[in-house]
Amino acid sequence: MTLLGRSVAVKVPATSANLGPGFDTLGLALSMYDELTVTAVPGSDVTVDVTGVGEGVVPTDASNLVASSILATFAAVRQPAPGLHIAASNSIPHGRGLGSSGAAVVAGIAAAKGLLQGVADFDADLLLGIATELEGHPDNVAPALFGGLTIAWMTTNGPRHKKLMVHRGVSPLVFIPQSTLSTKVARELQPVNVPHADAVFNVSRSALMIAAMLQSPELLFQATEDKLHQNYRASAMPETAELVALLRANGYPAVVSGAGPSVLVLCDGPGPRLEAAELVSRHATVPWEARMLAVDFKGATVVAIS
Ligand code: HSE
Repeated sequence: MTLLGRSVAVKVPATSANLGPGFDTLGLALSMYDELTVTAVPGSDVTVDVTGVGEGVVPTDASNLVASSILATFAAVRQPAPGLHIAASNSIPHGRGLGSSGAAVVAGIAAAKGLLQGVADFDADLLLGIATELEGHPDNVAPALFGGLTIAWMTTNGPRHKKLMVHRGVSPLVFIPQSTLSTKVARELQPVNVPHADAVFNVSRSALMIAAMLQSPELLFQATEDKLHQNYRASAMPETAELVALLRANGYPAVVSGAGPSVLVLCDGPGPRLEAAELVSRHATVPWEARMLAVDFKGATVVAIS
């Protein structure tokens, strides 16, 4: 069956990983999106047009992360890849801890799945397995693929996930700085071993986090405590650490979003969210873009357009 001329439209949400205690495990899909169309064309060339975030910066050939993820997905299901034309319109900021690279990987996988409709079958575990192999850890790609709040874990047979709905009172607020931080640099600051008491601390807060997100948003302040990653990384993002401290000192459940340097506040209603944004506009020492977002419950979508 020829794929030439097939074209798909893909939409992928931003994500925030860790959510405080759930390092490399918890993730939340947010209502900020990268949107793309991908067309199968004759030959083997790959061309990419980017507008919005990344325009003039990201590669526009086969080394582009969306393109390489499409090609990797075709290879994973042993199908020959066509030439590709990708037109991307991006909103997820890069290098800010909002899952932009996970979104690019997931966009590529979703596009390949759409182009291969009727040719290859993909179940959820296969999609997550390909995405985790390309991204390195599953906590951003799971919510980008499936939406909602996700728990992701590794097994000897690959990564697995559970998608959960979120209490309607949970009101995410993201503060995005102008500075960037690479996940690789942030991960290098992590110790190889942690004290047992710190591990127990995070186990308790991660378990509480599920109850807080699903049933009891008033517990989010305690549930977002962490001892496994944020302090170790604070030297690489001092303004982020300062903003998290300011918000928490005023009772708001603030955490570093993913590997930073954005800050996620999981407010327990729209009122506290407005108050938190006002607090930051009055007291912050560097500029922060405040974004009031919803939880995205769909995850990546792909539709055939020809
Ligand atoms: N869990 C990852 C980290 C998310 O914090 O390093 C960033 O991709």
